[in-house]
Amino acid sequence: MNDEKLLTEFPQLETVRLKLRKLSAADANDIFEYACIQEAAHFLIWEPHTSINDSSEFISFADQQFNDSNSIIWGIELKEEKKLIGTIDLRGYSSLHRCGDVGYVISQKYWRRGIVSEAFRALIDFGFGVLNLNRIESHCEHENTGSWKVMEKAGLVYEGTLREKILIKGKFRTMKMYSILKSDWLNNDKN
Ligand SMILES: CC(C)(COP(=O)(O)OP(=O)(O)OC[C@H]1O[C@@H](n2cnc3c(N)ncnc32)[C@H](O)[C@@H]1OP(=O)(O)O)[C@@H](O)C(=O)NCCC(=O)NCCS
Repeated sequence: MNDEKLLTEFPQLETVRLKLRKLSAADANDIFEYACIQEAAHFLIWEPHTSINDSSEFISFADQQFNDSNSIIWGIELKEEKKLIGTIDLRGYSSLHRCGDVGYVISQKYWRRGIVSEAFRALIDFGFGVLNLNRIESHCEHENTGSWKVMEKAGLVYEGTLREKILIKGKFRTMKMYSILKSDWLNNDKN
């Protein structure tokens, strides 16, 4: 474990349009609203939520993940609407290797408005600037164009394709791997 980087308080982040914040029990309805839709979960390991209880269980899971220093799962709140529209998470941030892995989902109603790219950039600044990570990576199915475009917009570079890397919904999925290093981030900052 990279002990010095463990967080005692949940780190809330803010961007122009978004608040990235801790999930609370009151978010279950908003989460259910998007997580029950087939399209949202299509490329993801979890099944669409079938009841509010599934969404409440996810909130408890997020809390536990943070308490165990496994991952930080931020709720993505649209400031203008004060509505929780998705989540973005940083997994493995406390590992010896100082390498975090990012995943995300937002409500289909808000796709293609630059929201996840905006959230991802804030997460990168936090990961390198505050957590002192050395590498942030993310991967998605090669057919998930929206997802790899988010990675590119956030400044990650394509590293390669991992054949049949992950088993999702009974099928082995081929994944595109992207990453950004702290040195890339520092260099970009100077430009
Ligand atoms: C993938 C996902 C996170 C994208 O979020 P988003 O907020 O719509 O992404 P952005 O608006 O920041 O888009 C970034 C770029 O991707 C493009 N894009 C987004 N969705 C796209 C799609 N389905 N097909 C093609 N391009 C897409 C955008 O146009 C934008 O490019 P541009 O700036 O050149 O116009 C969202 O569609 C989603 O939640 N999908 C379901 C969950 C999922 O697949 N998560 C990723 C698992 S690895």
